[in-house]
Amino acid sequence: MEFTEKEEGLVKESWDVLKKDLPLYSLHFFTQILEIAPAAKDMFSFLKGSEEVTQNNPKLKAHALKVFKMTCEAAIQLREKGEVVVSQTTLQYLGSVHLRNGVIDPHFEVVKEALLRTVKKGMGEEWGEEMGNAWTRAYDQLASAIKAEMK
Ligand code: HEM
Repeated sequence: MEFTEKEEGLVKESWDVLKKDLPLYSLHFFTQILEIAPAAKDMFSFLKGSEEVTQNNPKLKAHALKVFKMTCEAAIQLREKGEVVVSQTTLQYLGSVHLRNGVIDPHFEVVKEALLRTVKKGMGEEWGEEMGNAWTRAYDQLASAIKAEMK
């Protein structure tokens, strides 16, 4: 099914909102990940052994930023080209980083759920099913490219 301009717009619009307060939304994103899958904590070098997730951790912000931003880029590509095009070098890098850190396929579902909850929090009243579906479609395509590279 075609990824429409409207869907692309919904993703871009909400990414613009999240971008305005990355420390807040990164923290929310990780808090959600750990709420859904507490064991995920030890995978992240910057969370290992720590008592709580802290807001000003630069690595935490970096990972949240990458996930949000790359999903948004995936949405743009889906609309423009009908597929998600990630350079082979980037994919290889992403594949190896995640393999090395013990990430397995089901974790991608956890991260997706955390991502959706974070967009929902940022958008408040403007959040809706269509917006959720647009993020889901873009994320799923990106995630399957990364997962394929991890095989
Ligand atoms: C590292 C992106 C999904 C766990 C990284 C890095 C990138 C990245 C770019 C390299 C570090 C950096 O440059 O900041 C993504 C994207 C994802 C995704 C785009 C989904 C579309 C996941 C999932 C997990 C995960 C599902 C597991 C819960 C990690 C871990 C590291 C990492 C543990 C190493 C971080 C560290 O300790 O320094 N990810 N990631 N990622 N990612 Fe992901």
